[in-house]
Amino acid sequence: MSISPLSPLNGMDLSAGLSAGDNFKVAWQSPSNIALVKYWGKKDGQLPASPSLSMTLEKAITQTRVDVIFGEAEKGLVSLNGSIDHPFLPKMQHLLDWMTRQIPCLSKVTLRATTENSFPHSTGIASSASGISAFALCLISIAGKIHGLEGDPADMMRMASFAARMGSGSACRSLYPGFSTWGATPLFTGSSDVYATPIAEFVHPEMLLLRDAILVVSASPKSLPSTRGHQSMNGHPFFSGRIMQANRNMEETFAALSANDFEKLGMVAENEALALHALIMSASPGTMLLKPASVEVIHRVRDARSSGLSLFFTLDAGANVHVMYQAGLAVAVEKFIGEALQPLCENGRVIFDSCGTGPRKLNEATAGS
Ligand code: PMV
Repeated sequence: MSISPLSPLNGMDLSAGLSAGDNFKVAWQSPSNIALVKYWGKKDGQLPASPSLSMTLEKAITQTRVDVIFGEAEKGLVSLNGSIDHPFLPKMQHLLDWMTRQIPCLSKVTLRATTENSFPHSTGIASSASGISAFALCLISIAGKIHGLEGDPADMMRMASFAARMGSGSACRSLYPGFSTWGATPLFTGSSDVYATPIAEFVHPEMLLLRDAILVVSASPKSLPSTRGHQSMNGHPFFSGRIMQANRNMEETFAALSANDFEKLGMVAENEALALHALIMSASPGTMLLKPASVEVIHRVRDARSSGLSLFFTLDAGANVHVMYQAGLAVAVEKFIGEALQPLCENGRVIFDSCGTGPRKLNEATAGS
């Protein structure tokens, strides 16, 4: 059996003698990510059925602060933003329960978390990748402090990625700048099903400047929770074809990223986006997540490309459309978005984001206060 990345945190637990005077805070900021090769379907143990590859975003982030309190009777995560029934609390609780089984010292403290997303509420933008990765980083920091361990930053990100996948699979890819993969693949030495791997070093520097405009076609929460979506792949008639397609698209995407081949990257990303929605529509029961405006955006993006504008689209499991383009063409593409796509968005909402720099530790004294 392989060694858990969390094993350094299973050593001597110094929490026994700690009391109220030793209370401390930790705070992290972590980004969301957009998959170019999609994770859809899983194996037991929260492992992906096929490898995925994503770009970390820069502006779509969550900032989370956790107050760690010793000596209170009630242990565990007792509140989020002061509420005991915040809608995101069960996901965080699930992650904490799993982490506590790996790192028992977490059962001895009381945690109060405060969290804030950079993207406005009601935009239909999922916050689980950023929120869960930020919370995983906080928990690793807490365990490290309790054990008196500084830890190497790369090891720490790997631990957080290993843990974050238990809260939300895609969250495990948010721990790294640029691009990262999750799922064992012969393409990358060190790739794994149990944590994501950064690949920025294999990516052409121009690709690290990519832009992503998120077109908020619908601000309503998506009607297909991702847990149910992943489950719908069990027994799906296209399952084996999907696994082959994802592996082939990983190869193509990696080749495009390293060669700075934007056109090829777009071809594969659009194939992945439409494949994801085809799988969702052809599951039993099938679901239609695209809105008429999503389809219209896709047609307009393709028409603009036929007329010579270099851009492509991708989709998450929802109605909103991500439009990706190169930094050098930002003025022309953003003019097109403003004129042709923004009017199709709910309240004209577009979030202009870009390839990001990864998580950041915050000053715990000021974050979220
Ligand atoms: O991380 P989850 O369980 O919310 O699943 C994410 C699935 C997609 O966003 C549709 C694809 C992906 O790889 O991010």
